[in-house]
Amino acid sequence: MQESPSEIIYQLKDVAKTRSSNGYTFGLRVPSLRIHRGEKIALIGESGCGKSTLLDMLAFILQPSDIGSFSFHGDRGSEIDIGLAWRKHKRNRLAALRKAHMGYVMQTGGLLPYLDIYDNINLSRQMLGMKDDGTVELLAKELGLTRHLKKLPDALSTGERQRVAIGRALAHQPAIVIADEPTASVDPFAAEKIMSLFIGMVEERNITVIVASHAWRHIKQLGLRRLAHHTRRSADGRLTETVVSG
Ligand SMILES: Nc1ncnc2c1ncn2[C@@H]1O[C@H](COP(=O)(O)OP(=O)(O)O)[C@@H](O)[C@H]1O
Ligand SMILES: [Mg+2]
Repeated sequence: MQESPSEIIYQLKDVAKTRSSNGYTFGLRVPSLRIHRGEKIALIGESGCGKSTLLDMLAFILQPSDIGSFSFHGDRGSEIDIGLAWRKHKRNRLAALRKAHMGYVMQTGGLLPYLDIYDNINLSRQMLGMKDDGTVELLAKELGLTRHLKKLPDALSTGERQRVAIGRALAHQPAIVIADEPTASVDPFAAEKIMSLFIGMVEERNITVIVASHAWRHIKQLGLRRLAHHTRRSADGRLTETVVSG
């Protein structure tokens, strides 16, 4: 099958980020990365190898130190030059792209403690001014959260809260969901169940998903494409460099 350019959602070439603190320097290099619409991507690696750094660059939260080229296709056919947007300090434009096209699931949910579960799930829609159309109830049902909709987050278990976070990430029907260790704070049995529920839901909706995890175990059977990465440290441990490509 011939590949049409509109099927690519991310295309990065020679993108890098360097972060230093207290005499320690970390560098992430991405010589080449291409992600297609509907792909399910996993970035698996030990703590500190740069997973969040990469995800935050893909979510336009973190500005790369160097950009050879970085293009993003939000809607079919429209190519956006993310490198140019950063160079021109278009933070608002980048934030708007993120809100419209992405859902983000964080390790500890990131729920707002004073909003009930319905409103927490609905938040991504509300920020875009989307009307209630039953999507939140439907997601809650799929996620087994229906009876919790009127509760506050602290009345829920950790696993239930993570399912709320997944609901929020999907509620505005984004093209992409980025999940940074979404099941790291729940027990392995719950983690496996939540991960397969999550991947099933994005698959059904043809959403592109990028998951970071320090453990491959729970994800292996779910058919994700694993990005290759290699980390090396200098002898004195002050310099760490990770190269990711895929
Ligand atoms: N805000 C920051 N400033 C400086 N260094 C940072 C910052 N955030 C993370 N780092 C460093 O970058 C490296 C990679 O971090 P991160 O991407 O969070 O790894 P992971 O998500 O794989 O655990 C770590 O060595 C960390 O110390
Ligand atoms: Mg991380």
